[in-house]
Amino acid sequence: MNIGVFDSGLGGLWILKYLERELPNCNFIYFADQAHIPYGNHTPNEILKFSEDIAEFLISKNCKIIVIACNTATSAAISTLREKYVDIIFVGIEPAIKPAGELSKTGHIGVLATKVTAEGQKLEDNIQKFASNLEVHTVIGYELVELVEGGKADTDESEELLREYLEPLLEKNIDQLVLGCTHYTFLINNIKKIVGDKVNIIDPAPAIAKRVKQVVEDKQVLNNSVEKGSTILYSSSGSEKLRDFYSKM
Ligand code: DGL
Repeated sequence: MNIGVFDSGLGGLWILKYLERELPNCNFIYFADQAHIPYGNHTPNEILKFSEDIAEFLISKNCKIIVIACNTATSAAISTLREKYVDIIFVGIEPAIKPAGELSKTGHIGVLATKVTAEGQKLEDNIQKFASNLEVHTVIGYELVELVEGGKADTDESEELLREYLEPLLEKNIDQLVLGCTHYTFLINNIKKIVGDKVNIIDPAPAIAKRVKQVVEDKQVLNNSVEKGSTILYSSSGSEKLRDFYSKM
């Protein structure tokens, strides 16, 4: 029995790393759909189709739990995947509006996300549910995923683009910034440089790993092996970049 984890590319590796830490005896299969990246520029229907194909692949590899380590795919596909594959447990990731709302003192929250996530119904529902009394300022991070995939996360080019997106949020007096795309964790150095220490950055990766651990324990779906687990990486583009990034994290 394996745990499948997928994303459009490198972003979900952060979640994988936290999962490996929380569940050291489990076997993980990571799938990066780099042939179709960035997901944020596709339509929700296209992303659903990609996600279904990946789910089938992971199920064929004996995965009983599938972690959608991608906000965009969660937004576009998780409901349908749960309906279609009823024996599989899907855990998704969504922008962390709830903790941001609880922590905010200024009443202004910033969300940086892909187009599909920013415009999706799921984000709107979460804002209504957890932050309806606050001002939530959402900005689309066009081109950021491409910079991360190109190994340019810590460059001036990425800083410049991030400034364009984040400075208007700072003018709105945000004190919480929600990273609504798993790729953005790679940009953390430049993000911190721009927002300074008055803004708290919320990355949901550790919380997702804890949630998956809870699911594993509740459902008792895994063997209680004492051996160290393994991780296998796949990329739909055949790119070696995935292995390089993983080994350096
Ligand atoms: N890591 C994906 C997410 O969390 C990136 C989406 C993309 O490929 O645009 O949304």
